[in-house]
Amino acid sequence: MRPAVRGRFITFEGGEGTGKSTQAAMLADRLKTFGLGVVLTREPGGSPGAEAIRHVILSGAAKPLGPHAEAILFAAARDDHVRQVIRPALAAGHWVISDRFADSTLVYQGSGRGLDIDDLSSVISFATAGLRPDMTILLDLPVEIGLARKHAPDGEGWNRFEAEALAFHSRVRAGYHALANREPARWRCLDGLQSAEKLADEIWRLVAKRMEFEP
Ligand SMILES: Nc1ncnc2c1ncn2[C@@H]1O[C@H](COP(=O)(O)OP(=O)(O)O)[C@@H](O)[C@H]1O
Ligand SMILES: [Mg+2]
Repeated sequence: MRPAVRGRFITFEGGEGTGKSTQAAMLADRLKTFGLGVVLTREPGGSPGAEAIRHVILSGAAKPLGPHAEAILFAAARDDHVRQVIRPALAAGHWVISDRFADSTLVYQGSGRGLDIDDLSSVISFATAGLRPDMTILLDLPVEIGLARKHAPDGEGWNRFEAEALAFHSRVRAGYHALANREPARWRCLDGLQSAEKLADEIWRLVAKRMEFEP
């Protein structure tokens, strides 16, 4: 066993089809090869309770409730995810890699749907009790390219967020740029047009440097 290395919380953000799930899995695998405890998780979801709420949100069943209720459902899912999975893992010294986290709410419900950012921030801090990622990797890609990837024959199919208008996805992309610019110490923005392998190498280099992890 390696000597104790402090657990870190790294999140992946970006629009549809930018490669978040691909890169989150590649980073988790790479960390595991060094014998580190790694928890790979995702939002919405990541715990049994939150996965149940994920189904309600992404199926469209919550749409008639409106955007406020939807934001509250995301918060309920996040509360369970943080309590049941993320905080216990970090306390045990594991590295937690999450495919989306609270920034997705600010960008999709805020920049995308136009909900008030301060209101959303309050709901987020209520759900997370202030837990924030140590590092957030933004995968950036023209929205048409990301959406086309999801349309590809081997794509995973569309849920209701992916089916939103292009204008919505453009607001999401701009929202991510604004968040990353506001908090440059936490965010790293990468060009999602690169090959998955090149991106994985760049992410590995950034994580090792930023997290002071020397393999
Ligand atoms: N760097 C890349 N270049 C080209 N295609 C990619 C790249 N990364 C992932 N893909 C493909 O694009 C699609 C979406 O990738 P995925 O990781 O699921 O994105 P996200 O989780 O951000 O929606 C998948 O079919 C995946 O195989
Ligand atoms: Mg994904």
